[in-house]
Amino acid sequence: MSLGSGVPCQVHIETFGCQMNEYDSELVRSLLKREGFLLTEDRERADVILMNTCAIRENAHTKVYTHLSGLKTLKKSRPLVVGILGCMAQNLKAELTKQEPLVDLLAGPDSYRQLPALIRSAVHAQEQGERVKALAVDLSEYETYDDIVPARVPGVNAWIAVMRGCDNFCSFCVVPYTRGRERSREPEGILEEARRIASEGFKQVTLLGQNVNSYCSGDWDFARLLTAVADIPGIERVRFTSPHPKDFPPSLLEAVVFHPKICKHIHLPAQSGNDRILGLMNRTYTRQEYMALVDRIRSMNPHIVLTTDIIAGFSSETEAEFGDTYRLLEEVRYHSAFIFLYSERTNTIAARKYADDIPHEVKSRRVTALVELQRRISTERNREYLGKTLPVLVEGDAKKSALQAMGKSDGNITVIWDKSDVACVPGQMVACSIYDASASTLYARAEGGSEGSSTKSEQSCTNIVQS
Ligand code: SAH
Ligand code: SF4
Ligand code: F3S
Repeated sequence: MSLGSGVPCQVHIETFGCQMNEYDSELVRSLLKREGFLLTEDRERADVILMNTCAIRENAHTKVYTHLSGLKTLKKSRPLVVGILGCMAQNLKAELTKQEPLVDLLAGPDSYRQLPALIRSAVHAQEQGERVKALAVDLSEYETYDDIVPARVPGVNAWIAVMRGCDNFCSFCVVPYTRGRERSREPEGILEEARRIASEGFKQVTLLGQNVNSYCSGDWDFARLLTAVADIPGIERVRFTSPHPKDFPPSLLEAVVFHPKICKHIHLPAQSGNDRILGLMNRTYTRQEYMALVDRIRSMNPHIVLTTDIIAGFSSETEAEFGDTYRLLEEVRYHSAFIFLYSERTNTIAARKYADDIPHEVKSRRVTALVELQRRISTERNREYLGKTLPVLVEGDAKKSALQAMGKSDGNITVIWDKSDVACVPGQMVACSIYDASASTLYARAEGGSEGSSTKSEQSCTNIVQS
C-alpha cells in the first residue's frame, strides 16, 4: 500500500469517547497492520488520519469538529486522507458526507473490516483528483470481531469487549443507533483472549460492553463469564463496565462480592432519582427498585465502592424532581459520580417525543449543585480510608510529578505515593497506607517507605465530570 510514490502508507489514529472506542482502535490497528499499513504516532508524518469518534453529547461532536478544522492547513499542504470512524460516523453520515469537505472516508463501528479497502479507494480517489467519499456505515446484527486480536499497547490493563450494541433504548441515548443491536461473543473466544492477555503480562482485565451485564451466549450469563475470566491464573484483577441496574441477578452480586480477583467496585448508573423522569428516560426501574439493589449490594459487603452516572436537566425536569436526584446522591453516598448536563441527540426517542425545554443556565446550575455535593461526599468517603492499608496496583508515574507513583485501589480509587517509599514497577501490587484524601485521590505511604515523606500534590477532581 503506497501513496503512488512507492512510500508505504502511514496511518495515524486518534481516539475519542469511551473505553469501547479505545478497544475498537486496537482492533482497527490490528486490521490495518495485517494488510500492510504502517501505523504512526506522529500525525505530521501521516498519510491517513483516522479519528475514532464519540456522539454521546454535543461537546463530543464539538471536540471532533474542532480537531477537524485543525487539519485544514495540513491537508492543504500535502496529500492527506482524513477518515471519521466510530459513533459520529454512524450517526452523522448524511451531514458529514454532504457538508464536510475535509472528510474523505467514513466507517461506522460495525464496518472496520472494510477499512483497508476504504483507505485504498480514498487514496486512489485523491490521487485521481476525484472528490468522492469512501463510505461503510451499515450496522450488523452479528459482527463481534471475534477473530481479530486487538493490537494492544503493553501496560497494566487490557480491555476485552464481550458484547457490542445496546437494546435498551434509554430515551436520551444515541448508542443503540450508533452501535446497533446487542450481540454477545462466544465465551471460548473471550477466555482464549483473556489467557493470552495473562501470558503477555497484563495484570488487569476490564470486560467491556455498552450493557455488559446483559451478556448472554448459550447457557453462559455474565456472572459465569466474569468468574471464568477471574479464575485464569496470572490475572490479578477483573473489572467490568458499564452495567445496567436491571441486570444484577444474585449470581452476579455473589461473584463480585466473593471472588477475590473481581474488584469490589460496581458502577451503577442511576441517571435520575425521580420516578417520572426515570420513566421518561425509559430506564425500566424506579427509585425504590434502584435503592433496593444498592441495599442488597451493601448488605452483602458494606465496603463495596459504588459509583454512578447522573443526567441533570432532562426534558421537563422540575426543581422538585431535580431535588429527588440531589437527595439520591445524599442517600446513596457514592464514592464518585459522573454528572452530565442533558444534551439532546438527534434521532433519539427523547428528541422525537419530548422538548429539550430546560434552559441551559438551569441545567448548568443543577450540574454545579450536584458536582459540589458529590465532591463533598467523595472527600468524606475517601477520608474513611485514612489509617487503612490498601493493596494498590501500580499503573505508573503520577500525572503531576514523576517523583510520585500512581495506582488504583481495588475499588478503583486513585492512590498516589512518593516513589522514594518503595521502588514500583507498573503491574506490581503495593501495600499503601493512606494518610490523606481529597475528593478524587488517596495520598499514601507505600509499605517500606519512610514516615512523613510524601508531599501532597494538587490533583484536579477527575472523577466528577461536568459537560
Ligand atoms: N452504556 C452505558 C454508558 C452509556 S454512555 C450505560 O448505560 O451506563 C455514559 C453516560 O453518558 C450515561 O450513563 C449517561 O449518564 C450519559 N449520557 C448518555 N446520553 C446522554 C445525553 N444525551 N446527554 C447527557 N448525558 C448522556
Ligand atoms: Fe445508552 Fe441506555 Fe444503552 Fe447505556 S443502557 S448505552 S444509556 S441506551
Ligand atoms: Fe461515545 Fe459511542 Fe462510546 S457514542 S460513549 S464512543 S459507544
